[in-house]
Amino acid sequence: MRNTRIVEMLEVTEAAALAAARWMGKGDKHSADRAAVEAMREAFDILEISGEIVIGEGERDEAPMLYIGEKVGGGGEPIDIAVDPLEGTNLTAYGQPNSLAVLAFGPKGTLLNAPDTYMWKIATGPAAAGAVHIDATPTENVRNVAKALNRPVEDIVVCVLDRDRHADLIAEVRQTGARIRLISDGDVFGAVATSIEGTGIHLYMGAGGAPEGVLAAAAMKCIGGTFMGRFGFRNDEERARAEKMARCDIDGVLDMDCLVNTDEAAFIATGVTDGEMLRGVKYFGQGARTHSVAMDGKTGTVRFIETVYRTGAERFWVRMD
Ligand code: FBP
Repeated sequence: MRNTRIVEMLEVTEAAALAAARWMGKGDKHSADRAAVEAMREAFDILEISGEIVIGEGERDEAPMLYIGEKVGGGGEPIDIAVDPLEGTNLTAYGQPNSLAVLAFGPKGTLLNAPDTYMWKIATGPAAAGAVHIDATPTENVRNVAKALNRPVEDIVVCVLDRDRHADLIAEVRQTGARIRLISDGDVFGAVATSIEGTGIHLYMGAGGAPEGVLAAAAMKCIGGTFMGRFGFRNDEERARAEKMARCDIDGVLDMDCLVNTDEAAFIATGVTDGEMLRGVKYFGQGARTHSVAMDGKTGTVRFIETVYRTGAERFWVRMD
């Protein structure tokens, strides 16, 4: 059955991207994020859904909008929603590539309610699915992906967040002969890019935000890739929060069924700034153009969608001034 909700949800990430893109390069990541959050929140309100935010801007006391547990939509089908209205706030603030407005949704109770902690992650696309494991060494994972893709290790590109905690990981990957695409932020892109031909990224490894892990896992589930994680708690409080929310072993491997317990999830991302996977928002005087990817687990389809918002037929969230 087709997932008719995809198009209306697409308008939600488009709204967030259109709003955030107005802040590109202005050096103000908080305003960029706020604009995306407000636009996304407003766009949800006109939908006939009974949505619950399971991954959002934080706990109720720390986020005014799109907080975990918040109900969105005007009433209708009950669904879980994971959002990151602006994934890569710094990327937008400094006009760097691959910032995205992202969401995933699925039937009620299917998306893991992950706390704001770290997650060690590994992801690769459908062609090498099954070749990687979060508990294998980086060397084993790189070699197995090369084998699955039938190419020498030197032709493998691994995406890693440029962080001190990854010094050993980076050194070991370099040792294998594989090349590295270091990114300053935005590991939803890093993980999902492994499944998109033309990005030149074959494997994603490293630790990033746990909420971003659930979003990436939803995409990988829709597209038939692999994603695995392990929580990387910084303190007891984060661990306690995970214990409260968890439905799987919080010290064990977080596989795709734990993170996204359905085959009927969907993942949508709209580019804010230009990147290898999506083009960013273009304002052109009489309107704006967005570029998005929509993955539908129900049908296994991946759509790349370009939308033009004309000023005359303006949606309320497209502020052209
Ligand atoms: P923001 O969009 O909230 O700035 O986060 C971007 C991001 O790079 C994520 O993609 C990634 O998972 C996380 O931050 C990494 O966290 P840290 O910067 O603490 O290493």
